[in-house]
Amino acid sequence: MADVKLAIVYYSATGTVHAMARRLREAAEKAGAEVRLRQVAELAPPEAIASNAAWSQHFDSTKDEPRATADDVVWADAVLFGTPTRYGNVASQLKQFLDTLGPQWARGQLADKAYAGFTASQTAHGGQESTLLALYHTIYHFGGVVVAPGYTDPLKFADGNPYGVSHVTGGSNDAPLTEVQLAALDHLARRIVTVAGRLRA
Ligand SMILES: Cc1cc2nc3c(=O)[nH]c(=O)nc-3n(C[C@H](O)[C@H](O)[C@H](O)COP(=O)(O)O)c2cc1C
Repeated sequence: MADVKLAIVYYSATGTVHAMARRLREAAEKAGAEVRLRQVAELAPPEAIASNAAWSQHFDSTKDEPRATADDVVWADAVLFGTPTRYGNVASQLKQFLDTLGPQWARGQLADKAYAGFTASQTAHGGQESTLLALYHTIYHFGGVVVAPGYTDPLKFADGNPYGVSHVTGGSNDAPLTEVQLAALDHLARRIVTVAGRLRA
């Protein structure tokens, strides 16, 4: 839908959620949206990042990419939040960003927008659904409209997550996105752009 403004705000330590975010941007732009792709700030101490080669590599390669601000959320008609699973929950880096939005919340600037989430975990039952549901608690407080994908397209029976889109990174934490996840990401992007356009109208 033309002219819909979409913010994709995410945290990624080792690049999986970043890859998902980039795919969402591509699909949303194809659907006619204007997209801001924004990472939130890294909060982990340098020694923690340095202890993990994949984390260090991703940190270095993305450190100059734009950082999310409150204005990105206020600007948007729709927001997609992405986070790796952390003990079945939202990563503290994304949660910290959400926790800075109190002034915008108090002014009602976060309400009436379309929101949805995407996530990754290492294991198949490692907390993807609980992470997305935990994320949505915040959206309810915003007065946001959760645009869960549900099973609104036959392809959702392949990826099997009606709460959002998720990917399992596997034992070595680097399994690439498959056609199933890419299709689910494309569907989520198209759906939120369409619903946000209707909400705005
Ligand atoms: C502190 C910590 C907690 C994690 N908790 C879980 C978990 O509960 N379940 C799971 O399957 N994976 C868990 N993981 C693995 C991450 O979710 C996985 O590495 C992540 O989805 C990769 O995303 P990224 O490449 O965007 O950082 C955890 C990783 C860390 C560092």
